[in-house]
Amino acid sequence: MREDNLTQVNPRQRAWLEVNLSALESNTRSLIKSLERGSSLMAVVKADGYGHGALTVSRAAIKGGATSLGVATSQEGIELRESGLNVPILVLGSIIDPNELEACLKWNLMPTLSGFKEAFLCQKLALKSGVNFKVHLKVDTGMSRLGCELNQALNLVEFIRKQSSIELVGIYSHLASADGDFKGESAAITKLQKTRFDNILKQLPQLSTCFCRHIANSAGTLRDKSLHYDMVRVGLAIYGYNPIEDAAKNLDLKPALSVKTRVTLIRNVPSGVGVSYGHKFITSRPTKLAVLGIGYADGVSRALSGKISVLANGKFIPQIGSITMDQLILDATDSPDLEVGNVVTLLGVDGDASITPHEWANLSGSIPWEVLCGFRHRLPRLIV
Ligand SMILES: Cc1ncc(COP(=O)(O)O)c(C=O)c1O
Repeated sequence: MREDNLTQVNPRQRAWLEVNLSALESNTRSLIKSLERGSSLMAVVKADGYGHGALTVSRAAIKGGATSLGVATSQEGIELRESGLNVPILVLGSIIDPNELEACLKWNLMPTLSGFKEAFLCQKLALKSGVNFKVHLKVDTGMSRLGCELNQALNLVEFIRKQSSIELVGIYSHLASADGDFKGESAAITKLQKTRFDNILKQLPQLSTCFCRHIANSAGTLRDKSLHYDMVRVGLAIYGYNPIEDAAKNLDLKPALSVKTRVTLIRNVPSGVGVSYGHKFITSRPTKLAVLGIGYADGVSRALSGKISVLANGKFIPQIGSITMDQLILDATDSPDLEVGNVVTLLGVDGDASITPHEWANLSGSIPWEVLCGFRHRLPRLIV
């Protein structure tokens, strides 16, 4: 009996992501070249590598010279360990559950400590297991999110260093506004955060060489070398996007992600026809509509409805009407050659033209980080 394998469809059939490995690797390499001497690069691969695939990104970034990885949760770290990665991994999120801390110890993941309670727990767990617990201490210098209070930092460092089974390997903070307008308030906030961080470090002269000091995200890294310290934690720039327009223009960052789909139906309608839910778009001329098999459930935000264009054969084609869960519609009247089955690029490069997550973010009141993290549901991810 003949058995047809109909359980797997062509991943390039409906809609898909293409992740460019060499872009990830070369972005990492270029960033490392731009670092202040002595500073290393941690690749931030949380949220499944900003939607690119955490393992794929980690491997490419390590090949490009990254020496450690940053994740948000212990589960993300465990998955990377299970896949065989053995570089240092820092869990950037907060962990308060003893079982989760125990898992960190077991899988050799470094937790971020913000207070005495976690430090005490780490000591207890490490003593019980007979394995030293490597940890990073976070100090809040102005983000008002994780991290201990400034006035607690020295006591906490002292406390941690007195624990026989905890190894304090890093001290860090996080910048709140390095990607903002750097002539005004944003510059002042970053400067203040740096001053506060330096003040803490200065009060630990005999200790400060023992652990890794870090504060810069992509924007901090690209903006100011004095923020590089011993390490930088880079996410967005590894994926090929510069979060600030007026800095590091000579750095050749290549977008690593493309979002593609196909035309699934073409229909010609007269003038005066309502298109998609709520008829937010009414045709004002005989119109060639092209339906694409991708929607907001795939990561194309509904807030972009009627605002974006896509690329086919190097030409922009406007999207019209409401973006629906699984599909969206183009006005392809001015693209007479567009046919069912043609590949369309939503994000990425086609010929000389390109569309970036920054453009989508600006149109939908979002940020490129959120746009990228949105592609995680049912889109096959193909490595190119
Ligand atoms: C603590 C921390 N460090 C570094 C990063 C990397 O930031 P970016 O993607 O802007 O480089 C993030 C991302 O949100 C973060 O939360």
